[in-house]
Amino acid sequence: MASPAKTAAPKGPATKKAAPAAKKPAAASASSNGKGANTGKGAGSNAAVDIQPRLNQQQNAPSPTQRYGTVSQRLPIGLSEPTRRESVTMLNQLLADTITLRDMYKKHHWQVVGPTFYQLHLLFDKHYEEQSVLVDAIAERIQILGGVAVAMAHDVAELSSIPRVPRDREEAPVQVSRLLDGHQRILKNCHDYASKADDSGDDGTNDLIVSQLVRTNEMQVWFVAEHVVDSPLTQAE
Ligand SMILES: [Fe+2]
Repeated sequence: MASPAKTAAPKGPATKKAAPAAKKPAAASASSNGKGANTGKGAGSNAAVDIQPRLNQQQNAPSPTQRYGTVSQRLPIGLSEPTRRESVTMLNQLLADTITLRDMYKKHHWQVVGPTFYQLHLLFDKHYEEQSVLVDAIAERIQILGGVAVAMAHDVAELSSIPRVPRDREEAPVQVSRLLDGHQRILKNCHDYASKADDSGDDGTNDLIVSQLVRTNEMQVWFVAEHVVDSPLTQAE
């Protein structure tokens, strides 16, 4: 039953109708249901144009929806504009440093070498994942406050307070030392920023910094720092 119906439809009327359809303004009929692709080459080409994605809209783009560094009052969360602005500035600093520390963990996860390779390889990746959670929490707090979260690597590199890490592969104790320095820079800022957020009444930012950033970074410092204690392996000294 199906085969005669299929062969009957394209034959006869279809080939004769294709020509006039192509000469008429084919856009309306072809764009609505895609039949243009079956009725003739001319109509089919117009249909393809109609479904073409509009690419390269970043070129000659209109003004951004919000400029970096500005703070909107869009969400009614009961905080003043100066409080939001101060918190967003502090959080973007913590965000840039946390992204940098997170990526340093992944670098060291890949490049670590030596007798402690296995445990450090796993530990570095665990800390990378935990820092990724912090990155998302900080960035979303910035957006809630009406700010714009720093995101891209080149912007993060400009803003971060953590010294640039060489591309080279380094010994495990050097890797650990760089990580501990990064943690300490973040923790010092955390203590300062938590106090300021508390003073300004931004309880959410204070809680994020104390409950998540301080706690996580302190725990990671412990796990990493114990690897560079010069402890005897086989005979007590
Ligand atoms: Fe991996």
